[in-house]
Amino acid sequence: MGYADPSGGRDLLGNRTLLFIFICAFALVTLLQQILYGRNYIKRGLQFSWQNGEELGNWTGIFNFTDDGAVKTGSDAGGRYFEFYEGPLDFNSTKCLELRRDITNVKVLSMVKESDLFDRWKSLQVCKWEMNVTEANAFKSALTRCCNAPSFLFTTQKNTPLGTKLRYEVDTSGIFPISSEIFNIFPKDMPYYRSQFKKCAVVGNGGILKDSKCGKDIDSTDFVFRCNLPPITPKYVEDVGMKTDVVTINPSIITERFNKLEKWRRPFYEVLQGYENASLLLPAFYNTRNTDVSIRVKYVLDDFESQQAVYYFHPQYLINVSRFWLMQGVHAKRISSGLILVTAALELCEEVHLYGFWGFPMDPSGNFITHHYYDNVKPRPGFHAMPSEIFNFIHMHSKGILRVHTGTC
Ligand SMILES: *[C@@H]1O[C@H](CO)[C@@H](O)[C@H](O)[C@H]1NC(C)=O
Ligand SMILES: *[C@@H]1O[C@H](CO)[C@@H](O)[C@H](O)[C@H]1NC(C)=O
Ligand SMILES: *[C@@H]1O[C@H](CO)[C@@H](O)[C@H](O)[C@H]1NC(C)=O
Ligand SMILES: *[C@@H]1O[C@H](CO)[C@@H](O)[C@H](O)[C@H]1NC(C)=O
Ligand SMILES: *[C@@H]1O[C@H](CO)[C@@H](O)[C@H](O)[C@H]1NC(C)=O
Ligand SMILES: *[C@@H]1O[C@H](CO)[C@@H](O)[C@H](O)[C@H]1NC(C)=O
Repeated sequence: MGYADPSGGRDLLGNRTLLFIFICAFALVTLLQQILYGRNYIKRGLQFSWQNGEELGNWTGIFNFTDDGAVKTGSDAGGRYFEFYEGPLDFNSTKCLELRRDITNVKVLSMVKESDLFDRWKSLQVCKWEMNVTEANAFKSALTRCCNAPSFLFTTQKNTPLGTKLRYEVDTSGIFPISSEIFNIFPKDMPYYRSQFKKCAVVGNGGILKDSKCGKDIDSTDFVFRCNLPPITPKYVEDVGMKTDVVTINPSIITERFNKLEKWRRPFYEVLQGYENASLLLPAFYNTRNTDVSIRVKYVLDDFESQQAVYYFHPQYLINVSRFWLMQGVHAKRISSGLILVTAALELCEEVHLYGFWGFPMDPSGNFITHHYYDNVKPRPGFHAMPSEIFNFIHMHSKGILRVHTGTC
């Protein structure tokens, strides 16, 4: 017979039961929240259209709510649900003009609750998107004046001559003198020109991309920007695609994952091979810490005789872009590389489509989403101003300057 301590056993059981009850209660509350929120979002969306006395799309008749919070339409008794998809309404229709105005009227983020803005965005999903050429061209001209990506996005031999004393973006007391060794790794001139590409995708890494099935859409665009070496392995390809023309690398990744390239370089080289045809873009002159490790990337690629190009953000371009967005109300210690790429894309492309940019914990249908499409690691708080950046994108979408994709494709 083995020894058993009955009282010890009971204690243990007691603790477990308590823990179990606690977990159950937590799960129940979470579930309830989701159900309630999901319903509210849909209800509010509908009230919104009813108030304006118009029907949604071609549907006639009224909507009945079903148990799962989705809405059943009368004209389609076959059990089709009212889902939030790109709707049938024209961008120009009176209804859509109103819905878009409901967003553009929110001048600053603090004017409304985040959930209110979220609802307005949701309602807008019944409208098709079109570019407003007048608005888009005005915005692009403003970018030409402030930032001029076709000449200054990267450091080139033309905009950064030999002997230049290059000023860092943040370590403003730091100066990097351009020696002939560094000069020779710069491209002669910018490889892209204004409006070179018809349709571009800028792919953020938001959890909104998971199960979006947007891979094909992204790959079908003429030029694809990605941020910070995201995984584009077969596991994710259906949602995020694989075509990559420019991918940024944050030097902190090289420091943390690849020992600053001071030891074995092959693992880094092999990761880069996953981005066939892509040029690599690094903020070498953001601060003094980034410089050596960024330049080492070029040496690694040369050693492995890789055809991939390496480019460095021009620090003055980054300063001017930050200043531009600050004037638009984006306050952050540092604007995200996603926003920098979107800014550059607006000058280099005729039409800019955003995927994977979403700063809310739920998708527009009310489902909770992870922080990234590949993990749920949260960023350092207060570093980027995500909601403020997304807010700007939503505005720009409503004005017809660029298109933000937050649904399935
Ligand atoms: C709405 O009606 C128009 C014209 O009658 C038609 O072309 C369009 O396909 C319809 N849209 C939907 C979603 O039924
Ligand atoms: C909604 O439900 C009511 C009562 O159940 C029913 O009479 C009506 O036909 C339904 N309407 C639609 C559009 O399904
Ligand atoms: C939208 O309005 C513009 C003029 O503001 C017009 O040129 C364009 O054809 C309209 N588009 C649609 C789909 O009605
Ligand atoms: C496009 O933008 C211009 C300028 O803001 C505006 O006057 C026009 O109505 C817009 N067109 C559409 C279709 O929204
Ligand atoms: C950045 O802005 C300054 C002043 O606003 C301007 O002189 C400079 O040419 C701009 N730099 C670039 C790279 O466009
Ligand atoms: C890389 O470029 C080649 C030749 O243009 C093309 O066939 C291939 O599909 C490209 N790879 C990717 C991942 O886009």
